Amino acid sequence: MNHMHIARKLISREGDVTPVVLEAMANTSDPRLKQVMTSLVSHLHQFVLEARLTEEEFEFGLRWIAALGHHTNESNNEVVLAADVIGVSTLIDLINNNGMQGETMSALLGPFYRGHAPHCVSGECIARSETPGAGLVFTGRVIGAQGYPVEGAVLDVWQASPVGLYENQDESQGDFNLRGKFTTDADGCFHFVSVKPAGYPVPTDGPVGDLLRAQQRAPMRPAHIHFIVYAPGHKTLVTQIFADSQDALLADVVFGAKQQIVGDFVRHDRPDVEFPGMKAPFYTCRYDFKLVAGTPSYPIPPISGKKA
Ligand code: BEZ
Ligand code: FE
Repeated sequence: MNHMHIARKLISREGDVTPVVLEAMANTSDPRLKQVMTSLVSHLHQFVLEARLTEEEFEFGLRWIAALGHHTNESNNEVVLAADVIGVSTLIDLINNNGMQGETMSALLGPFYRGHAPHCVSGECIARSETPGAGLVFTGRVIGAQGYPVEGAVLDVWQASPVGLYENQDESQGDFNLRGKFTTDADGCFHFVSVKPAGYPVPTDGPVGDLLRAQQRAPMRPAHIHFIVYAPGHKTLVTQIFADSQDALLADVVFGAKQQIVGDFVRHDRPDVEFPGMKAPFYTCRYDFKLVAGTPSYPIPPISGKKA
């Protein structure tokens, strides 16, 4: 087979480039790859023409993209963060998860999901090292869209410490602090103990931080807890439950907050026999996750470990 591409003509003006490049890609055998690359190249060329990019701007942009790679390592994923702060991740989320079958709304995975979190027994506390903040008892059920309980669903939970950092970013936190996996019982119920989450800034020491400063944008995420809810026979749910003010939700730097997944965090000012061992003030939150039938999948963790 001859894979050599012979252009019909040499390029001499701006308008020649797009058709010649699309023609060069015309033999792509995977139809989906061909469709995606045709659309990408067409729109990218259109963007360059519309913005009339200078050579300096182009070089600056390429250096910025290379810096995303240089700031990506086992404990930080600047590429994911970049997609998040320009709203691309939220678009992808909404295209692929619309909640139309009654399932719980999804939310961004974000750059801080780690695989291999410890399996916990029901009721276990995921604060594994000294962690500030008010206690939190989080309970709920995993149910199918028709309301039946899902037994054996695994909830992979993670959150930032109220100091504003995930454990992978912070040498002072123990390995897997504020991360854990919980399994639902025969009634679909789960239960864990943690601390009430606080809002935090996304990392600003890399090229994404440079962009946010240039755009005069605050780097804050509203307080939330992340969940991956996995059960055989069901579509995997990747979501976050929010615990913050409307203003903080509106100011989410990654456009990830959704009204449907704001939790009802109830403050308790006195110890309560119903919640033994919880020192006042503490919070409780109950949230039921609804899954739809489907083929489960698992996201690839954007990071693998703690800061070296
Ligand atoms: C997060 O919630 O962990 C997150 C999401 C997007 C960007 C940065 C952090
Ligand atoms: Fe987060």
